[in-house]
Amino acid sequence: MAELLKDKVALITGGSSGIGRATALACAREGARVAVADIATAGGQETARLITQAGGEAIFIQADMTKATELEAMVNTVVETYGRLDCAHNNAGIEGALGKTAVYEEAAWEQVIAINLTGVWLCMKYEIPAMLTNGGGAIVNTASAAGLLGVPNMPAYAASKHGVVGLTRTAALEYAKAGVRVNAVCPGIIQTPMVSRLTGERPGMFEKIATAEPIGRVGKPEEIAESVVWLCSDAASFVTGHAMSVDGGIVAQ
Ligand SMILES: NC(=O)c1ccc[n+]([C@@H]2O[C@H](COP(=O)([O-])OP(=O)(O)OC[C@H]3O[C@@H](n4cnc5c(N)ncnc54)[C@H](O)[C@@H]3O)[C@@H](O)[C@H]2O)c1
Repeated sequence: MAELLKDKVALITGGSSGIGRATALACAREGARVAVADIATAGGQETARLITQAGGEAIFIQADMTKATELEAMVNTVVETYGRLDCAHNNAGIEGALGKTAVYEEAAWEQVIAINLTGVWLCMKYEIPAMLTNGGGAIVNTASAAGLLGVPNMPAYAASKHGVVGLTRTAALEYAKAGVRVNAVCPGIIQTPMVSRLTGERPGMFEKIATAEPIGRVGKPEEIAESVVWLCSDAASFVTGHAMSVDGGIVAQ
């Protein structure tokens, strides 16, 4: 079977865990050489090890999405190691503190916006020039169903993810003619450490949120990874500026 990302170089942020790890593994399976970036070293090294163990090529780069210098260095390392950058999945993110809009703490707000929104912008700021030197590329930003819907008690998270959708559409228009496609994936409720943190201390909560999914279950990280691989691949060559729901039907309600 043809490999969807054969000869491509892919960078995945938040690749130490959850959706990012699943995407890194799927990109490698489809023939890409993979750079896994994350603030968390052990998980990132493990993702890279899983890829090389399966016969692929991968490196881990430690980078904090709130630090522009580290993100510039991250992209430079990918280009120095593999000679190019074709695909980027800007996926690192946090759920942040919970609380209604009027009582939300300013520091908590700033942390969520810094990682989830400014971090995605800074990644693109350095990725796009690297892609332009090879004549183009494909970026997939992880937004959320919370980028399309309001989410009570998660004002900063929902604002950050709506921001990612707006940023994605804007960059898509700016670089369409230059050959860089920019899309977002909007996951529903996916079984990852993030969701375990949100539901972990509340008995019955996981079962309750699963019933919010029209499809009748929560999603798997691999189900998001497949959509990211497709959006990154030449099979999606006419797709740009799209916020793709991969959410078991949540946004369709
Ligand atoms: N799990 C879900 O239900 C769900 C739904 C919609 C969107 N998302 C989004 O998917 C993305 C991945 O989340 P996940 O569910 O896999 O969670 P996760 O917690 O398993 O993974 C998030 C990763 O981001 C990394 N990260 C956090 N802060 C960072 C920073 N400052 N710099 C670098 N890396 C940092 C973490 O170390 C971790 O490896 C996030 O953007 C999240 O908002 C998740």
